[in-house]
Amino acid sequence: MGSLEFKDLFTHDGTVYGDWRDEFHKNGCAVVKNVISPERAAYYRQKQIEWLQSFGRGFDPNDESTWTQEHLPVNFKGSMYFAYSSTHEKFVWEARTEQGVIDVFSKLWGTDELLVSFDGMNIALPRQKDLKWSPWPHTDQSPERLGMQCVQGLLNYAPNGDKDGGLILMKGSSKLFNEFFQETRKQADHEDKPPEEENFKDLFIFSEDDVRWFKDHGCEQVKINMAPGDLVLWDSRTMHHACLPEGDQIRHVQYICMTPKKFAKAEDVEMKVQLFKDWQGTTHWPHCNLRVQGPPLRDGKLDPQNRDRPLEPPEMTNRLLQLAGVKAY
Ligand SMILES: [Fe+2]
Repeated sequence: MGSLEFKDLFTHDGTVYGDWRDEFHKNGCAVVKNVISPERAAYYRQKQIEWLQSFGRGFDPNDESTWTQEHLPVNFKGSMYFAYSSTHEKFVWEARTEQGVIDVFSKLWGTDELLVSFDGMNIALPRQKDLKWSPWPHTDQSPERLGMQCVQGLLNYAPNGDKDGGLILMKGSSKLFNEFFQETRKQADHEDKPPEEENFKDLFIFSEDDVRWFKDHGCEQVKINMAPGDLVLWDSRTMHHACLPEGDQIRHVQYICMTPKKFAKAEDVEMKVQLFKDWQGTTHWPHCNLRVQGPPLRDGKLDPQNRDRPLEPPEMTNRLLQLAGVKAY
């Protein structure tokens, strides 16, 4: 794989900040505490539950017998929601435009001229009986993109301790990404492996041997525990996956990534604007890797409950339109 393009879109100049940025630049990941208040986190938990209930399929957060797919809108891996224009619901945009959230990404990149991903949310219910699931350590950056190019984030709304479902990061793996892919590597043959024809889908699923390779090279696999209102950031070259909740707490998360607008090509901004106008979601990438996400399929057929607009559209503030790529900075 010697011919791959290597490009760092951001280089840390060695500045010591005295905050979470030092940890981020050292290990490629960091938790930022209290980005929003516990009250705001509770509000977002409630809005997520209401959104699940808006489909009228009998989902009840207090009745575990309803925690099955037939009572839920179509999701990915039992908990991730990208369809139904949910990525543009008012409460989702409210989270993206929380000043505390914008401030984190502005500090990280050294600019507040940012684009945000139209990314999904994760509502993970413990003990889902009909969930077929296996861990899938992966990166959302393809080995065809080498270098520091994107930072992912998730805003956490519910208490998240050892027993609660959550994010597992291979701490330090982003620093070894380029070295790892100097050799030809084959994606693990996982059930969620993307089809071969989608060869530029930014997803690489690692095998158990690969996981061992990173551990042998000094990385540590850690479960990220967080309080409501905390945000975790990781360099997109970091191996990660989720674990299922083992306690009683429902996991509530919003994926949020922001990158400098200057990273985006004009044609990508144009496409992003079109996706926004069509209420379509994106991948985790704010500035590239944009493509229409498929419609929700239930038993292989288009879900008749599909929506082509959010239930509650967001308020079109200046900041929102800038983050969406619609308005210039
Ligand atoms: Fe991921």
